[in-house]
This record gives sequence, structure tokens and C-alpha cells, in this order.
Amino acid sequence: MRTIYINAGPMVHFGSGNTGIEDSLHGVGMGIVVNGEVVECIKSSDELTAEWSLDGPPTNHQQEEHAVFDLRGQAIVPGLIDGHTHLLWAGDRSREVSWRREGKSYAEISALGGGIQHTVNQTRVASDDLLVQLGYQRLREALRTGTTHMEAKSGYGLTTESELRLLELTERLNRIAHVPSIDSTWMGAHDVPNDTTPNAYVESLMSDQLPAVIEQGLARSADVFCEPGWFTVEQSEDILVAARKGGLDLRMHVDEFTDGGGGELAASLRVSTADHAYHTPMDTRLRMSEASVNTGFLPGTPYAMGDPWPDMSTIIDHNIGFTLASDFNPNCRTLSLPFMASLMVQRCSVHPLEALAAITVNAANVSPHPSGISHGRIVEGGAANFNIVDGPHWEAATLRPTATPFSGTVLNGRYISH
Ligand code: NIG
Ligand code: FE
Repeated sequence: MRTIYINAGPMVHFGSGNTGIEDSLHGVGMGIVVNGEVVECIKSSDELTAEWSLDGPPTNHQQEEHAVFDLRGQAIVPGLIDGHTHLLWAGDRSREVSWRREGKSYAEISALGGGIQHTVNQTRVASDDLLVQLGYQRLREALRTGTTHMEAKSGYGLTTESELRLLELTERLNRIAHVPSIDSTWMGAHDVPNDTTPNAYVESLMSDQLPAVIEQGLARSADVFCEPGWFTVEQSEDILVAARKGGLDLRMHVDEFTDGGGGELAASLRVSTADHAYHTPMDTRLRMSEASVNTGFLPGTPYAMGDPWPDMSTIIDHNIGFTLASDFNPNCRTLSLPFMASLMVQRCSVHPLEALAAITVNAANVSPHPSGISHGRIVEGGAANFNIVDGPHWEAATLRPTATPFSGTVLNGRYISH
């Protein structure tokens, strides 16, 4: 079954891999033929109309089953990719906002029984059904704002059994059709459980939890919260090196609250992506960049916490490659990548095309599609994952932080109206 989309407005395709305007954009009037889950061809609507005889007598082509969709000049952008989420957890931490306004720090809130530990307790007692239901609702919510694929971390279990359960439930969600696909990450090193010491927990991660995750093949990557007060640089290195030996791709949370040396470790281990990175000094950023480490900015977190924005102009001037992601978690309850892009464009002077690349083509490099086919770009032979902007200008994808900027999303070849 083919669907032929004609009369597109401007189409951001990122086909060349470069993200300059000339290399990334088709002018008005192109069309896309989708065959199954793949983009079969991209050409002008006039050619497609003639080839498929869309306004004339039937041809051989027309005997094949197909549907035609007139885009009426709506702009097109790739399916959005969220390269950093904490998707599965239960409970509610809204009261922490009051605590923060009363002057308590993240670490103090944690000591009071809030923070990650609170969510761990709520998640451990939640049923499988509840977690799957929450996960499904969240995937649907993300799809509504154009996400076609996301990375999802475990990390609210913190025992071998409960971390494996979260990864298994994530896999179950990944088998559900018509919602974004998932790239699964083990993050047992998200926090140290209350009933143990940091050294004992790291030891159990290395001897028990990580080997079980590797043996069961439940995650593509490993992530560590490398931050003073959580996992030290040495502990993070031990865990990441062991994960790499077990065949996992590496990711890190670094320098979120302070420059704790996480960015340096990311560069020396050449991890795929080092995220947050707010307090990473410029010389470390440059070393990360030389080591091909992506910087994953998570603007929803400073937004939610009331912290200052990173200095994006200097980062862009230095040509540092970056992605943007939601960091969806109990403190940062949004899955909207258009909102992340808007924060960058409308608050941090990032060009809309740069913001869009950070949630599409760049994000694809740190979170490949499970099928192995290209995504985050609109190219022949690539995934038929793209968004139809509700309007004639692609920039709108980055300028509508509340309602979805999209009239519909094509997800694995299937049109979904919003
Ligand atoms: O990426 N920083 C560590 N983890 C999450 C927050 C987790 C939580 O507060 O529950 C993050 O921001
Ligand atoms: Fe995170």
C-alpha cells in the first residue's frame, strides 16, 4: 500500500547530513511516496501527478492500491527524536516545587525523602499494568507533538529485580504499534538506594545488576548520573567501562549542578552523548567535541528548576554538535520537543534550523531507529516518519510551545491526525 503526499510546502529533509539551509530544504511543491514503512521517493508534485495519473485516466500504476493526500502547502519536517527521557515511573513530586521555593536544594529535598528516592518507592509498588498504562499515555502524548522515536532510561528501580522489570516493561511498550519506538537504556546508576552505601551499591551494580541486564539483552545503552553526591568520576568510569565490555553503548548525565569532572570523563571514554552539561567548562566542551561526544542539552530542566540557560551562542560559535531532548522525569513533566526547540529559539537565540536539527538528524546519531533504517531525515529509503506542520512555514515547528505545531504525523508510514 502506497500513500502519495503531494503539494508540500517547504520540506526540511536534512538529507545531506549537513544542516545548512541550502543543503537541508526542498522548496515548495514537492511530494513524497510512502511505501509501507519507508519513503520510496521524493519528487515534484507535478511529476508524481503525471506518473500516477492523479488527474487523468487510469494507468498501470493506478491498479496498485494507493491513497493520495494533498498537503495543500503545509510544511514538512522529519519525525522528532527525543534522545533523553526517563519514561517509566509512578507517583507525583509536585510538592517539591513548594520546597524549592522555600529554598531547599535538590540534595536537601532528596535528604527529606523527596527526589529520585521518592519516585523509586512509588515505582516499586506500582503494578506492571499501571506502569504500562502510564508509559502508553506518555508515548501518545509525545506523538501528539511530533515525536516518532525516543530514548528511555530505567533508573527508578535501583535493585536488580526492579531495574529488570522496568526494562522489560519498556520492551513491552516498544511492541505496541502506532506510538513512538523506543531505544532502551539501563540506568541502574541513577541514585544510591537508601538502604545501602555508595560503594556497596556500585559493587552490586557491577557484580549483579549489569551482568543480568547484559545477559537478558534488555538495553542498548548504559547511562550514569556522574555528579558529586551521586556517582563519582571513578565509580562512573568503572560502571561505564564494564558496560562497554558487555557491548552497551555509553551515555552520561554530567555537570548538571556543578563542574564535577563528568564532561572530562565523557571525553576520555568517548561516550556517545553527555547530557545536561550546564556547568561544563568551554575547554572540556571542546575536548568532548574533538572526541565526537555529543552534548545533549535538556532545556526543560533549567526551565522547571528556574536555573539560567546555557550560553548557546558561544557553543554554536565553537561549532559544538548538540542535541536537545525533553529529559522527561518527575521534575520535568513535558514530552514536547517543539517546546524544547522554542526555549532554544525564543530564549537562547538559536536559529530554528539548528534547533530542529538538534531534535531530528543530530538526535538520530545518538538514538538509532530499532529497524536500523535512517530516521531524523526525510530521504528515499529512510523511515517514513515525518510531521506535517499546521501552516506554510517549517519554522512554526519551533515556535509553538503549547499546542502541537503539527496537523498530523506520519509514523512508520501511517498517517495520524492531531
Ligand atoms: O536527568 N539528574 C538525574 N536524573 C533526572 C532527574 C531525576 C529526578 O529528579 O527524578 C534528570 O534530571
Ligand atoms: Fe536525565
